[in-house]
Amino acid sequence: MDAPAFARYLNTPLPIGNKIISGRMVLAPMAGLGHIAFRQLVAEFGGFGLLFTGMCSAKAVPHENPSVSPVFCWRRQELPYTVCQIFGAAPDIMAKAARRIEQEGFFGVDLNFGCSVAAICKKGCGAALLKTPDRAAEIVAAVRAAVSFPVFVKFRTGWSDDAAFAADMAKRFEAAGADALVFHPRVAPDRRTRPPKWDVITRVTGAVTIPVFGNGNLFAIQDGMQMKEQTGCQGLALGRMAVARPWIFARWAFGKNFDHSIYHAAALRMVSLLKQHYDMPFNLKLFKKFAPYFCANFTFSHFLLKQLNQARTMDALENTIHRLFDPCPQLLSAPNRNLFL
Ligand SMILES: Cc1cc2nc3c(=O)[nH]c(=O)nc-3n(C[C@H](O)[C@H](O)[C@H](O)COP(=O)(O)O)c2cc1C
Repeated sequence: MDAPAFARYLNTPLPIGNKIISGRMVLAPMAGLGHIAFRQLVAEFGGFGLLFTGMCSAKAVPHENPSVSPVFCWRRQELPYTVCQIFGAAPDIMAKAARRIEQEGFFGVDLNFGCSVAAICKKGCGAALLKTPDRAAEIVAAVRAAVSFPVFVKFRTGWSDDAAFAADMAKRFEAAGADALVFHPRVAPDRRTRPPKWDVITRVTGAVTIPVFGNGNLFAIQDGMQMKEQTGCQGLALGRMAVARPWIFARWAFGKNFDHSIYHAAALRMVSLLKQHYDMPFNLKLFKKFAPYFCANFTFSHFLLKQLNQARTMDALENTIHRLFDPCPQLLSAPNRNLFL
């Protein structure tokens, strides 16, 4: 597959439930990274089909006030292409949260059955639900019954390296009414340390008729082409690489070229959007979550990150960005994976 054929694939509309998306690359859900300011930065470049929020607590969503919540908040303009992700363990609570998300006007809701962080799993949420498949399917069915907009399930291989289990779960989610799956082929204790097994995406894609977004270690455009060819997935979900290069969707889908000044401009824009949407010290804290992925682009990534981390105010941060990224420091051909945790 060459770049033009890949771009045609990425720009082929995809029906999801009762809606259609215009492009097949989506921003994967990432807590602490996929916030309103970062989504605006990505939206300014374009090229994506959907953006996912970081996970929101289903218990909190029905009463959450978007003008004070740092995670359950959005810009009105982004609602048509934004999917709100929720985590929870009880079907009725997940259904109630999904109903509010539909009423607010989001494109869809995504059920988090993939997070393996202990604090989430010990409450029976996230990837813990893959230990109770009946409960997981019950949640999908309850959400399906409560809403008519698209319902996504984001899940991973499970708790053991068993492709047949993942394919079976995919079938159960489809039968329970899910409209699309976002699948990350890693077992839960792995976190992001070992490479994802893309052949499990092939099994999941082959098991269902609903669209599957493949996810995991898409760094270079060749990775995207290979995942599509190897697995037959209907779309690609990018996480960390989109944080490193928020213009990646425009680059891959539209073939848009960016010169090296984009790094300086994007870092500054991130600061300005964080200032617009959040107050100190939270905005500085959010920049420091973004910084490792951004610095992973450069040869002297650790040095750059250390300098950024020393900033104590947003003004100091802006000065440091001017000093470090104009002109653009030496780039690596592939990101420094030590910072891609
Ligand atoms: C900082 C961080 C936060 C994440 N938070 C979530 C989350 O809230 N919900 C979720 O389903 N996945 C979450 N993920 C997992 C990503 O969606 C994705 O599956 C993972 O990063 C692998 O994709 P990548 O190799 O393109 O980064 C998170 C990942 C990172 C790095």
